[in-house]
Amino acid sequence: MNTSETIIKQTKAFVKKELEKAEGGHDWFHILRVYNNALLISKHEKVDQFVVALGALLHDIADSKFHDGDETIGPQKAREFLFRLNVDSAVIEHVVKIIKHVSFKGGNEEQQFRSPELDVVQDADRLDALGAIGIARTFNYGGFKNRKLFDPSIKPNLHMTKEAYKASTAPTINHFYEKLLLLKDRMHTKTGQKIALERHQYMEGFLKQFYAEWDGEK
Ligand code: ADP
Ligand code: NI
Repeated sequence: MNTSETIIKQTKAFVKKELEKAEGGHDWFHILRVYNNALLISKHEKVDQFVVALGALLHDIADSKFHDGDETIGPQKAREFLFRLNVDSAVIEHVVKIIKHVSFKGGNEEQQFRSPELDVVQDADRLDALGAIGIARTFNYGGFKNRKLFDPSIKPNLHMTKEAYKASTAPTINHFYEKLLLLKDRMHTKTGQKIALERHQYMEGFLKQFYAEWDGEK
């Protein structure tokens, strides 16, 4: 019989291997940061820690951004993996739902599934999009997509659908207005909100300095 501890250990090894070739912002270290954030937030929430841990570890196992928009690969991979480890089927279904819904963009569509465990994983993932790490990941992703850093003539689009958001070729700075600066008001947990606010303020300082340097003021 596999214990929770051995299942988590094996899941870490599986995810690390699967993400060997992932882009720098969505690699194993992103998963590890989200996992650590999730455990930290969990301390103050009434949640099933095992579900949170597995959800955090498996949440980006096959990101649709890197699989031609196919959103079924990740959940399926996770389901098969956990099934092979004889994980309880209710746990498997909950983890699969977390993976399917964690990346909800908060736009016009209504989120179809909610649970306290999903709230924790979603907050943990969003925290990694903020602050110094958030800035680094965003420019890394923009570089990966060969985008401009900034172009004053291309304004942010604040009303994007999920599809438009995915297909966007806008300069990387626009992503701050289209997503990153909106996240602090979309956190579910108290701990998440507190850390998000600190990281939000750090990003505002960064943007201020960026424009000053752009204009040659400093
Ligand atoms: P999640 O992985 O939480 O579902 P995303 O994959 O959309 O969310 O975003 C994760 C991170 O990838 C963002 O926080 C950002 O750093 C980077 N990223 C995603 N889309 C863009 C984009 N259009 N421009 C720049 N960075 C992006
Ligand atoms: Ni993620």
